[in-house]
Amino acid sequence: MNNAEIIELTHRNMVDVYGCLPLAFARGHGAYLYDADGNRYLDFFCGLAVTSLGHGNPRVVRAIKEQAEKLTHVSNVFHTEPTARLVERLASHFGDGKVFLGNSGAEANEAAIKLARKWGSGRFEILTTLGSFHGRTLATVSATGQERYHQGFQPLMPGFRLIPFDDVAALDRARRDETVGVMVEPIQGEGGVVVPHADYLKRLRDWCDRNKMLLILDEVQTGMGRTGKFFAYEHAGVKPDIVTLAKALGGGLPIGAMIARSEIASSLTPGSHGSTFGGNPVACAAAGAVIEALEEDGVLENATSVGGYILERLGEFARSYDRIVEVRGLGMIIGVVLKHDARPIVEECIKNRLLVNGTAGNVLRLLPPLNLTREEADAGLAVIENAFKSAPLPK
Ligand SMILES: Cc1ncc(COP(=O)(O)O)c(C=O)c1O
Repeated sequence: MNNAEIIELTHRNMVDVYGCLPLAFARGHGAYLYDADGNRYLDFFCGLAVTSLGHGNPRVVRAIKEQAEKLTHVSNVFHTEPTARLVERLASHFGDGKVFLGNSGAEANEAAIKLARKWGSGRFEILTTLGSFHGRTLATVSATGQERYHQGFQPLMPGFRLIPFDDVAALDRARRDETVGVMVEPIQGEGGVVVPHADYLKRLRDWCDRNKMLLILDEVQTGMGRTGKFFAYEHAGVKPDIVTLAKALGGGLPIGAMIARSEIASSLTPGSHGSTFGGNPVACAAAGAVIEALEEDGVLENATSVGGYILERLGEFARSYDRIVEVRGLGMIIGVVLKHDARPIVEECIKNRLLVNGTAGNVLRLLPPLNLTREEADAGLAVIENAFKSAPLPK
């Protein structure tokens, strides 16, 4: 099938919640994707921070193939080796933790929310932040601090109270007797790559310790090396009580994880939570290979150095092109704040075969593969600079 045929067939039959771009992809290799008409695109989008080792990473492909040939599913009533190995790896990166596996970021956050309520024994309210994004299920959309995701779905689920991001003083004003914790993204991704002050997480940790509250970090987007560390919170030198991962964890297969300190995780007892597909052995084998690559292939170091280089070059663009307000990010999660809607820049880049994403209206978001080379970075930056130069200003 060609691009047009795939697009037409999809439009005719699929619930239209995504407003898809008119592009259909057929295969990928490294930092490049090929559409169904054979055109090649450089991928600074990574399926929304998912394919962080690029497409067709040999470690990941091998792990998926080998596991698919052996066994694809048995349910959580039984054990499998890939699942056992993955939870061991995740628990050891976290340090003295226990892992619950699901299939998505929203499901990982649902697990975190349910665990917080169970642990709280009556305390149930979680403080979340304006501009945040935690998922699309009813609980996680209720936790999300952006009204546009709420519209049409009210009444929202009770048990969440919004406070400004990067504002520790707001915690004291917002807390109630029923408050059990605070849930934040270390960097707000979907909200526009908003990077808080360097001491924000540390001050949140201190506040939670003083007030016997849980610190829950949603690292669905920032985790798995996106910022140059396995967990973004490592930059702040703190450890949360609960952290969630998804997106890049499975190297392209659906998997999410909630990791909690062991003494907190023990509040979830047999029968209290679950997921049919959670811990699927093929997804776990893929995730194990992704972690191996982070540990052994110099991926984190590359994300730091090439990400730093991209940030630096974009900083230079900001001095040359009046339409740029600010460049921000860490490692390979990068936002360029524009004076106008990001759409014309995104469209111009895609026209020139570079996949990028616009978020929060006026923010161009770059989520390149963590193993991007300097040459690939330069190729993408040339397309972006051209877009800053030539894309029309929106009316
Ligand atoms: C920080 C964060 N949390 C949660 C989610 C939801 O993840 P999923 O779409 O896998 O449910 C996302 C997705 O963009 C996210 O960025």
